[in-house]
Amino acid sequence: MTKRALITGITGQDGSYLAEHLLSRGYRVWGLLRGRANPRTSRVAHLVPDLSFVDGDLTDQASLLAAVDAVQPDEVYNLGALSSVPGSWQQPELVTDVNGTGVLRLLEAIRMVSDLSGSRHADGGRIRFYQASSSEMFGKATETPQSETTGFHPRSPYGVAKTYGHHITRTYRESFGMYAVSGVLFNHESPRRGAEFVTRKISLAAARIKLGRQKRLDLGNLDAVRDWGFAGDYVRAMHLMLQQEEPTDHVVGTGRLHSVRDAVRCAFACVGLDWTDHVVVDPALVRPAEVEVLCADSRRARAGLGWEPTVDFPALMRMMVHSDLERASREPAYGDLLQVAGR
Ligand code: NAP
Ligand code: GDD
Repeated sequence: MTKRALITGITGQDGSYLAEHLLSRGYRVWGLLRGRANPRTSRVAHLVPDLSFVDGDLTDQASLLAAVDAVQPDEVYNLGALSSVPGSWQQPELVTDVNGTGVLRLLEAIRMVSDLSGSRHADGGRIRFYQASSSEMFGKATETPQSETTGFHPRSPYGVAKTYGHHITRTYRESFGMYAVSGVLFNHESPRRGAEFVTRKISLAAARIKLGRQKRLDLGNLDAVRDWGFAGDYVRAMHLMLQQEEPTDHVVGTGRLHSVRDAVRCAFACVGLDWTDHVVVDPALVRPAEVEVLCADSRRARAGLGWEPTVDFPALMRMMVHSDLERASREPAYGDLLQVAGR
């Protein structure tokens, strides 16, 4: 029977890759969309008409209930969130509502629809639920590398809200027997990554500087270290987590570490430039409380799901820089803009 999936966060980086992955496996896929005029639907425009949309917002319980009832999904992937960590200090209450309470609302919608229409699902009326948890929950990590048993010490309103989402998912699993799991995913990037995140900010700047469309790159903490992987690999892990006999949380990452400085060096080397000529450290971009190092211990995912990453860090940065070179070459040059403005 054709499986049905509902994805929140469809206009985001991961939503687009996950929709592609599920469609390629024969799923019918719906994306939860808040507002049909959302310009970010362009990220998934190439998937329409195979991909369908349903209206809803994680801050609105009635819309989630209506969406789950309308789609009658076998699997729900909750990728919707305000996902910028620095942005979470600007809008802490909203981030808590969307990234924390939003998870509770979606779980409630699933529980209600499952209770009402249990017989319509092959596995006893249970809709399987995936929660996009984050390595930011480890924050000031109590051990390195971090696994499913490592304690949480979040360092931002984003991290705290995600920690609530993680715990409420486990609580619904234990309370109601729901197949509800969290994937604790470490940083994953791609050419579709938002330009507010550091790798994409760097790849875009390297491309623009090479093409004479930008002068310099302002960055914050160059010493921060992350475990960066490719988003296309990580959505495979999300799907695998919902195909297991027992609902189990998994940590997903490469186990390989690189600093922001490494990312800059790598991206600028791709375009034949010396990064030290172009990068300026701006103390205003340093966070109120930084997460210095995150490193995944993904042994459970590798052994239990058979999951492996396929793109290493240098290949990831090359992929992003090449995509941004192509994109930036279509942007008007600074001189052209002055001409258009009549100056
Ligand atoms: P992203 O590109 O920032 O996308 C976020 C998505 O959430 C967008 O589609 C956005 O839709 C949606 N959204 C925002 N507010 C919403 C609301 N009130 N109701 C419904 N949807 C809302 O994020 P991503 O990189 O794809 O990440 C996907 C998920 O994984 C997020 O939950 C993120 O926190 C988590 N995560 C990401 C990483 C990573 O490295 N990428 C690592 C760990 C966890 P609009 O277009 O309507 O704003
Ligand atoms: N964004 C940004 N901009 N980060 C910078 C900059 C800058 O100019 N300069 C240095 N950094 C450092 C940050 O201080 C941080 O230590 C590191 O680069 C990574 O920042 P981001 O790319 O913004 O990612 P993040 O680690 O804070 O959060 C991402 O990964 C999480 C998983 O660990 C997001 O995708 C979260 O949604 C996700 O949960």
